[in-house]
Formats: sequence, structure tokens, C-alpha cells
Amino acid sequence: MANTEDFFKKITSHAKEYGFIYQSSELYDGLSAVYDYGPNGVELKNNIKNYWWKAMTQMHENIVGLDSAVFMHPKIWKASGHVDAFNDPLIDNKDSKKRYRADVLIEDYLAKIEEKINKEIVKAKKRFGDNFNQEQFLATSDRVKGYQAQIENVHSRFAELMNNNDLKGLRDLIIELEIACPISGTRNWTDVRQFNLMFATKMGSVSDDSDTIYLRPETAQGIFVNYLNVQKTNRMKIPFGIAQIGKAFRNEIVARQFIFRMREFEQMEMEFFCRPGTEMQWFEYWKQERLNWHLALGIPKEKYRYHDHEKLAHYANAATDIEFEFPFGFKELEGIHSRTDFDLKRHQEFSGKKIQYFDSEINESYTPYCVETSIGLDRTFLAVFSYAYNEETLEDGSVRTVMKLPKMLAPYRCAVLPLVGKDGLPEIAHGIVNDLRLSYRVHYEEKDTIGKRYRRHDAIGTPFCITVDNETPQDNCVTIRERDTMQQERVAIENIREYIAKH
Ligand code: GAP
Repeated sequence: MANTEDFFKKITSHAKEYGFIYQSSELYDGLSAVYDYGPNGVELKNNIKNYWWKAMTQMHENIVGLDSAVFMHPKIWKASGHVDAFNDPLIDNKDSKKRYRADVLIEDYLAKIEEKINKEIVKAKKRFGDNFNQEQFLATSDRVKGYQAQIENVHSRFAELMNNNDLKGLRDLIIELEIACPISGTRNWTDVRQFNLMFATKMGSVSDDSDTIYLRPETAQGIFVNYLNVQKTNRMKIPFGIAQIGKAFRNEIVARQFIFRMREFEQMEMEFFCRPGTEMQWFEYWKQERLNWHLALGIPKEKYRYHDHEKLAHYANAATDIEFEFPFGFKELEGIHSRTDFDLKRHQEFSGKKIQYFDSEINESYTPYCVETSIGLDRTFLAVFSYAYNEETLEDGSVRTVMKLPKMLAPYRCAVLPLVGKDGLPEIAHGIVNDLRLSYRVHYEEKDTIGKRYRRHDAIGTPFCITVDNETPQDNCVTIRERDTMQQERVAIENIREYIAKH
């Protein structure tokens, strides 16, 4: 936990110092679990969006886009099941008056036992040195086996309670495990209650229940309720997909994980409609396709893994998460669900309008099945950002902080730096900027020593620094410094574009 906290402190302060992310309403001491993206953050975020949008709508002929409104008819959330079942089990500590998710308290308890196992491994590694065999150690150490049995026992009971929605059982388990409030240190707990995660507001001037509308907790429903519009207006033939990027809102209670879990966040979702009976084939296709999308960023494949769901939501017949190894462990980054015909059927039922597709190939009408890919934009930002963050000790003993962002996602593709702000160098540098800016986002900077400017661009993640020096007016060449290797190469001005494209 200490490491996790250190990590969040480091990442949060770097994100703030270099204009990536600020706490929302900071001037007024902040608003919990809500964040604003600064000038560099919004560029990185937009680049991730573009990368996803193009991968979906440009690389697949049968996927089209949509931008549906945040406000939707309240019945939509009845039909989708969110009004009745989009809940978290909450428990309050009577002494600290702090509110927790009951399931997270138990998960944290299990994580602490895992931590004990990890400590045993570290100790044993030290003891056995090169002869250490982790698998054998885990299978034979009595202490580790004891911890593992404890985890299995608590986990299976916990899973059953969650599946059965047994709130009293959850509270009893918290008491039995002697879980204490981290603030007050006491075990003086209230009952566990279900808490709906949707934000509600009123539309219009009359305040009765019929005017209650919700801020959407997922973008997906905007796609389902527009299925007929899109299919008809764009003459889509099954199988086809509808992609959407947009804000979602959830009144999250666990809010101490920076942009991992926010109350206002963005999702990139795609619903792929297919013929019933073909959904498993498409599910497998999208599982692979989405992992490939992540891997194309150049982040090692060991950082990703699938986590197949053992217990499926009532509307799904297959589900997997793509998890990413954040510095605080493997966590869900994206969900891929085979949602059957649940959503379209429910909207058909609640709206009273027929939602069917006539498949001329088989001469049949049916409600399409759907495979969903749903990824958090902010969570992807955090994955990329935390992976990119590196502190490197250089030969002279100094430390540089460098953001090794995938080059295509970096806020600036290059910086153009005249060595001094005179002798005609700024004019040459501006010429280079003007030449490149139609293709790339380029930063011109002449303040500070060249070393400081390099460091600043390392910290932002700019892949190339192009230095215009005193030789440039004579030889028409610049020095290009590459961010990750810090290697420098002399390149003719006319070849800069080619150099950047090649690298
Ligand atoms: N339509 C399906 C759906 O919304 P989900 O697993 O609840 O599924 C999908 O959310 C993705 O949205 C998650 O994998 C995660 O990346 C992101 N996400 C969910 N809740 C979030 C939150 N509170 N803050 C940031 N991202 C979140």
C-alpha cells in the first residue's frame, strides 16, 4: 500500500507540474475523484481517442460512429437494469463517519494476505540466492500454504455472498475478519446497504419523480437506443458495429486512485451487432483484435492479460477483461462482453417499438446479438502514462525524468530549439516549425539552456528535439536528439520530415 501511495503521489505531481492533469476545482480545495486535463494532458488524451476512433471506424468498413446525448429518457435506465441493479454495497464506520464499499474492504483484506505471501517470497529469495525455485517454494512452504488456504476460504465465501446479494452476510464477514476502519481504527460498522451509482438530476421546472433523469453511467445505452436509426440511415448490413466516445458518470465511493476510478470519466465503446449463434466467433475476434490494438502501442505484451469472468452478468454469455499491470497490480482496463440480445430486447419491451433486423441472406427477421468492447479513456491514459514514467540515473549521476510515451501519442511530436535567441537562429527555427506543423504538433522554445529545454521535453515525452545551432546557417543542418536513447544525429533541414517519419 505504501508503494501504491508513493506511486500515486509521484504520478499525480508529475501530471500536475507538466500540465497533464489537475485536480478539478483546485482553487476551492478540489472535488474528489474529478480531474481536469491540462494543455499536455488534453493532447495525449485526444491522441488516444484518435487512435481508438481510427482503429474502429477507419480500419473496419462495417463500423460507424455515433455521438449520442448524455441526457436520455429515464425509462432507458429502467430497461437497461441500471435503476434497479447498478449498485455498490456500502458500509459506514460509526466513529469516523467514513463510508466504504463493503466488497473493497474484503478485497483489501485479501490483498494484505497476498502481500504477506510476496514478503515470504522476497525473504526466501534472499535466503536461497541463485538456487531459489519460486514454484517449488510456493508449493512447499507451510506458511505460504496457510496464507493461500486463508485466501481461498475467504474468497469463496465472499464470492458467494456477492452473488447472492447477501448484505447481512457481507457485514458478518467483515466483523468476523476483524476488519477495522483505517481512519478510526474501530470495528463499529453500520449495516451494509445498496447504493445506486447513478447521478440523478431534474429536467424542466416541475420537481416530481417523473422528471428525474440520470447522467449516463455508460455510453453503451445511447448506442442501443439508436440501433434502428443507424442501421436504417446508413444501410448497415449485419454484422456491423457502432462506436462512440463520450462522458460517463458514476457516484463512485472508493475514490483514492487518481484517474483510475473517477466520478466523471470517458468511455470508448463499440457495440458489434451480429446474427444470433455467431456471437462467440465475434467475441473471440474482438478479444484478439482489442489486445492487438493495445500491443500496437509498443508496450510489452507481458503488461497485459485476459481475465475471463467466471460469474457472468445475467445478460452476458461470455465476458473477459483485458487487464493491465499498473504499478499497483493487474487491473481492468477494458471489458469485452457478449451481451446476447438482452439490451435490444429490453428496449423493444420498454419502448413498445419493434427492434428487428431482416437478414436477406437467410430470409429471416431476428433481434441481433451484440458483442461489446468497452474501454476507459482515462484509464488508458493512466496505463500509458504510468508505463511511460521513468526516472533514469545518467552517467554524471544526475537523474532525468523521462516520459517514454508511444511516439504517436506524445503531446508534441517534436520541439524546435534555437541554441540562442539571436544570429538568425530563431528565424531558421520558425521556418522549420512552419514546415512541420501541418503534419505534427511542434513546440518552439528558446528560453533556458539547451540542457534544461531537453529535460523539460523529456518530462513531457517529446520524442524529438531539433536544435538549430551556430553551424546551421552555414551547413543547413540541425541536430536531432532522440528522447529515449538521447542519441544525437546531424540531419539536413530538408531531411527532417523524412527522419521523423522513419523513426
Ligand atoms: N458498457 C459496459 C461498461 O460500462 P464497465 O466495466 O462498467 O462496463 C467499462 O466499464 C470500462 O470503463 C472499464 O473497463 C474502465 O476502463 C472504465 N471505467 C469504468 N468505471 C470507471 C471509473 N469510475 N473511472 C474511470 N474509468 C472507469
